[in-house]
Amino acid sequence: VRTVRFHGYGGPEALQVERVSRPEPGPDELLLEVTFAGVTLPVVRLTRGGPSLPHAPGGDVVGRVVGMGANLRGWRIGQRAAGMAFSGAYAEFALVNAGFAAPVPDDVSDEAALALVRGGQVALGTLHVAGVRPGDSVLVTAAAGGVGHLTVQLAKLLGAGRVVAAVGSASKADFVRGLGADDVVVYAQDWGEPVDIALDGVGGDVFRQSLNAVKPFGRLITYNGVGGSLDVNELRMRNQGVIGFSMAQFAALQRDRYDEHRDELWKLTASGELSPVIHRTLPLDQAAEAHRLIEARENLGRVLLSPAQDS
Ligand SMILES: NC(=O)c1ccc[n+]([C@@H]2O[C@H](COP(=O)([O-])OP(=O)(O)OC[C@H]3O[C@@H](n4cnc5c(N)ncnc54)[C@H](OP(=O)(O)O)[C@@H]3O)[C@@H](O)[C@H]2O)c1
Repeated sequence: VRTVRFHGYGGPEALQVERVSRPEPGPDELLLEVTFAGVTLPVVRLTRGGPSLPHAPGGDVVGRVVGMGANLRGWRIGQRAAGMAFSGAYAEFALVNAGFAAPVPDDVSDEAALALVRGGQVALGTLHVAGVRPGDSVLVTAAAGGVGHLTVQLAKLLGAGRVVAAVGSASKADFVRGLGADDVVVYAQDWGEPVDIALDGVGGDVFRQSLNAVKPFGRLITYNGVGGSLDVNELRMRNQGVIGFSMAQFAALQRDRYDEHRDELWKLTASGELSPVIHRTLPLDQAAEAHRLIEARENLGRVLLSPAQDS
């Protein structure tokens, strides 16, 4: 079966389609015949260095259950499911941990399920830990990305007041306004009036700018994979709070809430209130182009790979 791997670090061109034997599920794993695999920045970064080689990129996947481990109950062969593959996601068949997987309801498309199983959970999870109340002003960085484009919509659905979309380039302004953003700011420019809550998925200098954009008694939620530094005295002087968010920790430690969020995301999408956006879908042998799109910061919503699609 076909899978995408890289044998040396480098840019998108390091990715190669290879033939491997079909994976066998471990006791707690589902084997999915993949309809779509998601391509996201933290995984794209790994081609530049980090994992042991060869490496088969992981990520969010959706497909049909074609095999399951001995410990699993309640799953059916042939049912649609979405989840996270820790490696080997860009493939015709992928293994997912059943603990992070969910059956996909009939009224949710495969593409939407893919966008929600990770991106939607991060978007709703960060708004939840922020404790957004009706009328709160909310700033979202990387607002056109896989997580951010859902956060902007969900903030509005939760009754936020002014929602500010912060993006890397002005060319994304129309897209984020279409999602419901009231204001759009570009990182390099002035960010205008301060907000009650900032959600940062970028890190570094943008983390600093996000903190500076938060009003006294407001809070910043940091979920970026890059990091950022602060002096806690600044928080004291400004009465600000900073809270971290990890989806994996949230799923492990607040399981009931995580499951409620997933059901809420399915419901809002089926009713048309929440619209996951797919920027581009590419065949497996164009995985390099998918990585290039993410590295070039061009995506408006999600970039997907479709193993069934021919180039
Ligand atoms: N804590 C968690 O559990 C968790 C889970 C999933 C994802 N994340 C984090 O959430 C963030 C967003 O992920 P995503 O899946 O939404 O991303 P994505 O769909 O892959 O898109 C990447 C987004 O990040 C922005 N960006 C900022 N710096 C960038 C850079 N150096 N290179 C490329 N893009 C850059 C891009 O837009 P602009 O150019 O407009 O900024 C783009 O919208 C990442 O930092 C990721 O690590 C955290």
